[in-house]
Amino acid sequence: MKQYKNVTVIDHPLVQHKLTILRDKSTGVKEFRELVEELSLLIGYEVTRNLTMEETEIETPICKTKSKVIAGKKLGFIPILRAGLGMVDGMLSLVPAAKVGHIGLYRDPETLKPVEYYCKLPSDVAERDLIVLDPMLATGGSAAAAISFLKDKGAKSIKLVNLIAAPEGIQTVIEAHPDVEIYVGAVDEKLNDHGYIVPGLGDAGDRLFGTK
Ligand code: PRP
Ligand code: URA
Repeated sequence: MKQYKNVTVIDHPLVQHKLTILRDKSTGVKEFRELVEELSLLIGYEVTRNLTMEETEIETPICKTKSKVIAGKKLGFIPILRAGLGMVDGMLSLVPAAKVGHIGLYRDPETLKPVEYYCKLPSDVAERDLIVLDPMLATGGSAAAAISFLKDKGAKSIKLVNLIAAPEGIQTVIEAHPDVEIYVGAVDEKLNDHGYIVPGLGDAGDRLFGTK
């Protein structure tokens, strides 16, 4: 597989095992939702690996001691609606105090270009480490637009998390936003003529919410 600068593929066996079940077309809505949440937690564990730490003094039942806690800037999770919503609870189970901002984008089926329809962000996005969440990185149009939007609002620290990415989408985001680190569960083969990831998992939003 091609190596990309700024892209980390989480090839942990649990992630790969759960992705296989997620991709399977016989996996139903309930299990699909559970898997998206579990995968987000597992990938989120790696995404948060380099959070800044500081020492604090505590007292155990035995003695006083210094011990580490997370320091530095606060986190913000930014799901891209709709499918990104499925990733929020998994991430929040790791960092329950994080704020959550929503960006509503859908991909026009004809042009494959992202169309924005909603945005509500924490007022202090400029001061937060932001993690953009979307299960699928296909052409990369939606993710690149969401990141541009956050930068327009003053955001300086942004990471992107996807469960499955296409090489085309990675390239788009790397070119538009070389400062953004991308974390993915898998990099698939290609896009088909309709802009779907091959082999992928189909339409993430529809499988997550049982629509179509
Ligand atoms: C899907 C997916 C991404 C986007 C990826 O959303 O969740 O947001 O497509 O495609 P891109 O990389 O080519 O932009 P969709 O537009 O289907 O909306 P939905 O989540 O509301 O179903
Ligand atoms: N959006 C999806 O949900 N799936 C794809 O394969 C591409 C875009």
